[in-house]
Amino acid sequence: MAPASSHVTVKSTALDFRHLRGAPEEFSTFCFNFVDRLQVEGYVAVENHPWTGNKVGGLFEISQKFFNLPDEIKKHAGRRKGQEGNRGWAYVGEENVSAITGFAAGVLSEQNLEDLKETFDMGKVDDSELANLWPYQADLPGFRHLMETAFESGHHILLQLLRALAVGLGLSEDAFTKQHNCRHHEFRLLHYPAVPASALKSGESARISSHTDFGTMSFLFQDDVGGLEGESLREEGNYLPLRTERKDVMIVILGDMMMRQTNGILRALPHRVTLPSTASINAEGEEWAPERFAIAFFGKPDRDVWLEPMQAFVDESNPARYDGVAAGDYDRSKLLRLY
Ligand SMILES: [Fe+2]
Repeated sequence: MAPASSHVTVKSTALDFRHLRGAPEEFSTFCFNFVDRLQVEGYVAVENHPWTGNKVGGLFEISQKFFNLPDEIKKHAGRRKGQEGNRGWAYVGEENVSAITGFAAGVLSEQNLEDLKETFDMGKVDDSELANLWPYQADLPGFRHLMETAFESGHHILLQLLRALAVGLGLSEDAFTKQHNCRHHEFRLLHYPAVPASALKSGESARISSHTDFGTMSFLFQDDVGGLEGESLREEGNYLPLRTERKDVMIVILGDMMMRQTNGILRALPHRVTLPSTASINAEGEEWAPERFAIAFFGKPDRDVWLEPMQAFVDESNPARYDGVAAGDYDRSKLLRLY
């Protein structure tokens, strides 16, 4: 009998992205499994995608260089006061996600935790409503180019996965891709500095509190430190560690906007980052969580797309559970709570 495992390693169930361009049978099998895993587990691991290997490696490398810069230098790309949306660098404690715990379920948490993380966000290159913020080129040569290139290829990965999702749900192939023309996505680098475990156990701070993502579909990459957990869709309140064996295995999850459109048939996965099992005791006898790096691409529909439960998911026995809302308005209503 296999020994009981305290965590789930998602690598063993990773789907092969190359099948999206394979024979019709491979394509259909991918689409079916993609939807099935999202429905049953709430996440799916994907490998052999266009960022596999060096691309993800390069992003982790430049992310580390960016966050290692002195705060004074990172401030050139710092969030602007009153800024509506995620752009640029947010220092440790600037964005606090406990403010949106329970938002999608309509039950906001009363906890007020400080997030022990710093982030860098960017959006599309020519967004007239929300400009990107960059450090000076001389402070981190190549950073902007690498991020802009990855953003564009992330958009195309997203479109292929959205197409697979639509086919797997029995919808027309372009049911979701046609909502995602304007590249209103967000691309985020995250750094969780090393902290004493006591800070994460105190009830006053967290690496990131439980939340659901805002958009339709997100994909995440992480180093081998651990701590990412997703709530079991079968047992409320039971969080299972989401581990990947390699940094370039992508974890795909769905956000609120997909849950609303599928009338809850597909769920937005509540997830969080907690004290990792890799925490260790230092020479002074204190338990410390090592620093952690992660990368996330948040797919979001065009801001003017009207989101409401699609007809295919509504009938007498399953009436519409969500009101209609414009994607941009939904996004803003949630974002404004964060800072
Ligand atoms: Fe998230």
